[in-house]
Amino acid sequence: MNRSIRIAPSILAADFARLKDSIDALDGEVDMLHVDVMDGHFVPNISLGPPVISSLRQVTDAYLDAHLMITDPLTYLAPIVESGADGVTVHIEAVPDPAPVIAEAARLGTDFGLVINPPTPVESVLPFLDVCSMVVVMSVHPGFGGQSFIADVLPKVQILRETIDSRGLSTDIQVDGGIDPETAVPTARAGASVLVAGTSVFRADDPAEAVRTIRANAMNEVA
Ligand code: DX5
Ligand code: ZN
Repeated sequence: MNRSIRIAPSILAADFARLKDSIDALDGEVDMLHVDVMDGHFVPNISLGPPVISSLRQVTDAYLDAHLMITDPLTYLAPIVESGADGVTVHIEAVPDPAPVIAEAARLGTDFGLVINPPTPVESVLPFLDVCSMVVVMSVHPGFGGQSFIADVLPKVQILRETIDSRGLSTDIQVDGGIDPETAVPTARAGASVLVAGTSVFRADDPAEAVRTIRANAMNEVA
């Protein structure tokens, strides 16, 4: 199977006082930057929002992938996109009927994806695969970086890969949480096409090398 795998470093694990330096340290090895937006309601943590995305937009041409861990994505989709995000992903747990937020994403002309938490069945997103550019399987409980990878979610990735391929879709499958050079291997084998990695990249001695290692290990599974 030939599938290219992209790595999305999560800036949640970077030093927020030195975000530009942290991105520069990736040395062009960045396919996509993952930006975790948390509201203190949907998850028990607060991170960043549109002002930080605007500042990132000024210093990088990388694709900015905004992961909205927020209770009210419909209200905040426009400010997030207008601040410079290239794509937004929204939790199905926050919007059990995602039709209005899908329509808002289309109006804004942004890439759109749905995210499922570890306990959420994969069936909840299957009806929407054709309107998603990406579907995200959380491999940690959202809210914090640096947690351990939950391998029990991998069967959901396999089901998504089989469904997407059998329907002839090109929807990306992103896996988010606890990805490192080891956990990237079974995740790629299960069918992921985008791997989010925070701690294992930004807390590494050489973040660019960490991205290369994760990508190489993952690509080894799909070449
Ligand atoms: C968790 C976030 C993840 C997190 C990943 O709530 O959605 O994107 O930053 O960080 P690591 O790679 O440290 O698990
Ligand atoms: Zn995330």
